[in-house]
Amino acid sequence: MGGEGIRQRVTDSWDHLLETAILAPSPHNVQPWAIRIEDCSTATLFMDLQRALPQEDVTGSFLISAMGLFLETLAIAAAHQHKKLSYVVSEDLPEIPKRIRVADELLPIAKMRLDDESNVKSEFEIDLVIRRATARMAYEATPVPEESLRRLAEVAAARGAIFGSTADRAEIRAIADVNIATIFHDLNDANYHGEIAPWFRCGERQERGHRDGLSSRCMSMSSLELSIAKNAPGLLRLPGLSAGAAAHYRRAFATPCIGWLSGDFWEPMAALKSGHALMRFWLSVTAEGLSLHPLGNLVTNRSAAKQIESITGATNVWLVFKLGYAGNVPRSLRRPLADFLR
Ligand SMILES: Cc1cc2nc3c(=O)[nH]c(=O)nc-3n(C[C@H](O)[C@H](O)[C@H](O)COP(=O)(O)O)c2cc1C
Repeated sequence: MGGEGIRQRVTDSWDHLLETAILAPSPHNVQPWAIRIEDCSTATLFMDLQRALPQEDVTGSFLISAMGLFLETLAIAAAHQHKKLSYVVSEDLPEIPKRIRVADELLPIAKMRLDDESNVKSEFEIDLVIRRATARMAYEATPVPEESLRRLAEVAAARGAIFGSTADRAEIRAIADVNIATIFHDLNDANYHGEIAPWFRCGERQERGHRDGLSSRCMSMSSLELSIAKNAPGLLRLPGLSAGAAAHYRRAFATPCIGWLSGDFWEPMAALKSGHALMRFWLSVTAEGLSLHPLGNLVTNRSAAKQIESITGATNVWLVFKLGYAGNVPRSLRRPLADFLR
């Protein structure tokens, strides 16, 4: 076999697994992963700092958690091919909180290794990875069964996270109020808006052109509504428009349950582990036939985070989300795999 053939074989052995790994979720669908394949069994995972969100994710912890989400998904895909994924974390990881605001390079995160192992098993079907999606629409009123909540708490605890939830209508309404007020506040904050707006994909053409970011289709918004948030957020302060937008968010917020995950998160290594925990948790939510919708601003906006902790009584919360039964959930797009390879 010539050089070209060997290179093809090396790439093929990773490609299939990476196609699955990039289905992992990431904040604003920034897909911050880059991969350098070295040979059939080794590759390096990088964080693409050009895709970082330092205004919102000040410490980079959410982007690091996206690295954990990716590694967990890759490990699941590998297990289905009788391969075991192991990795060694890069010495650069503790540097991320310092570098996230200033650099735009590729930062090594982990040296990954695949080994053939006939008895390696995954607890998660690939089908769950494909079906998992962020569901931003109104949820059915059907309560989340106690049994599901108990199983989900076990999944989180097995990876060091604490799962809590409330089905109390007054608490859910209070959390919705904080969420809606925070969305309006943040969209009118120049730094926050300047960072998120370039990720808005208004309408099919923009969505298909980029294949990343937040599309109006997946946000349950019209292209016009998202264009206003992107180009003229000040309009959302006009009484008529503001009331209309708030009513829209409130309808979409309908949920029988709000959940949260708490525990160590703000140190880089803890954030990486939390990504693993969140992926397993989210796939377990999918396996229960449930959906979730992260409400990231309830953690990244410090004033909102304090209010949430006082409503729920929980501390060290790093993710708050709607949890319940949703109808058909739109699938968000991913860039072609070649874009991730360096
Ligand atoms: C840590 C984290 C925080 C997120 N926060 C939000 C959020 O605040 N609002 C939202 O609508 N989606 C949020 N998402 C969902 C992402 O936007 C979503 O995963 C991404 O667009 C890809 O879509 P998918 O999950 O359907 O594959 C978050 C996801 C992660 C991993």
